[in-house]
Amino acid sequence: MSSTASGGAKPTVTITLDGSNRSATLPLLSGSIGPQTVDIRKLYGELGIFTYDPGYGATASCESKITYIDGDAGVLLYRGYPIEQLAEKSDFIEVAYLLLEGELPNATQLDEFRKNVTYHTMLHEQIRRFFDGFRRDAHPMAILCGVVGALAAFYHDNLDINDARQREIAAFRLIAKVPTIAAWAYKYSIGQPFMYPRNDLSYAENFLYMLNAVPAEPWKNNPILSRAMDRILVLHADHEQNASTSTVRLAGSTGANPFACIAAGIAALWGPSHGGANEAVLKMLAEIGTPENIPQFIREVKDKNSHTKLMGFGHRVYKNFDPRAKIMKETCHEVLAELGIKDEPLLDMAMEMERIALEDDYFVSRKLYPNVDFYSGIILKAMGIPTSMFTVLFAVARTVGWVSQWKELIEDPSQRIGRPRQIYSGATQRDYVPVSGR
Ligand code: SDX
Repeated sequence: MSSTASGGAKPTVTITLDGSNRSATLPLLSGSIGPQTVDIRKLYGELGIFTYDPGYGATASCESKITYIDGDAGVLLYRGYPIEQLAEKSDFIEVAYLLLEGELPNATQLDEFRKNVTYHTMLHEQIRRFFDGFRRDAHPMAILCGVVGALAAFYHDNLDINDARQREIAAFRLIAKVPTIAAWAYKYSIGQPFMYPRNDLSYAENFLYMLNAVPAEPWKNNPILSRAMDRILVLHADHEQNASTSTVRLAGSTGANPFACIAAGIAALWGPSHGGANEAVLKMLAEIGTPENIPQFIREVKDKNSHTKLMGFGHRVYKNFDPRAKIMKETCHEVLAELGIKDEPLLDMAMEMERIALEDDYFVSRKLYPNVDFYSGIILKAMGIPTSMFTVLFAVARTVGWVSQWKELIEDPSQRIGRPRQIYSGATQRDYVPVSGR
């Protein structure tokens, strides 16, 4: 393969099949930043060959303007704005507008967007009945996945995804109703009554209210906790073409109902290699028990036969610190200090684990650093959020990213149904043999 770009001509890559004079010259595409990309759409037609990239580690599935990650430099931009600036200066509703619309809103736009989300937070009363079908000990992610998918039953008939206004309403409904469903999943699991959303509260305050309030007494907002919750939601809002976002895009590419697409994203996020890692980190720290046991655990991780992973470490894209992990770690210290929690053994364990791992060649040579999930669970636990709700919270935040990416997909005139190919290594054609002859 060779690449060429002579004065003014568009750059190309030429692939030549060894042992033949057959070659294909393919366009070399460039975005505004990031690696150049070979456009292989004509490759099969010209050379009759596929490309192979299980896990899509080096494959661009789409063109997007929403989020940019530089894994080597540890950079994360939402519509060009660094995550560090948004986490410090913005809030979740403003970030949701930015991800959906591409620009920061002016005061009027922000106020209107905030009202649109606020006035869609209630659920149809029939939806309450879906919860009764679950066992009380059902994992809240199972409930979230089921009930969000069931929203399609309420909106499928009058939803034309090719109508911009209807896409906008679907976006409001999903961003607004997922926190209500998430909080009700938690209330259902502890046998407490559902708390209806309150329009006088901010997005993060309302989520904490629905999670923690009870009808028997007034609820008081803790601005420290709601600010921390808002920042955690901002940090988890979007992240380029990760597994769950790619699932939403693949489902969306078939023209499926957006509620069903987001339910598919929730299902993909649940895995411990993805959004389920925050819950897995707390379980890992609890199993290790004390800092004295860390060296033994690290030895286990380095033993391939143990199949033990250091949860909250490593990332397909970040080969440097995940910038969200740094912000999360700072927030962790702030929240614990402001809650008057002097010594949190889990945080001490996590920091010792990070120190040891980052001095160990196994992790350094593989560029394994803490990711967004390594510290988030410790903050959430300090805020009184149960472990089973950690991934649910991730899903609440990522709904904004999923909806933004789904909207971008539907509005892309060049989008087609996603349909990967394969290397087939199974049996070649053979004739059926009756059971008497086997
Ligand atoms: C999220 O994609 C996204 O953007 C996801 C996310 C988002 O916002 O959407 O950022 C959210 O999912 C964060 C990741 C949460 N998952 C975890 O913390 C689970 C633990 N991490 C690993 O499972 C793993 O790091 C992955 C799944 C995150 C990445 O898997 P890769 O890409 O297959 O890992 P790799 O190719 O970088 O691994 C290189 C080597 C391998 O060893 P060798 O074959 O070279 O000997 O590092 C090893 C891996 O086995 N390795 C680990 C490890 N992660 C990778 N070894 C021990 N512990 C780990 N955590």
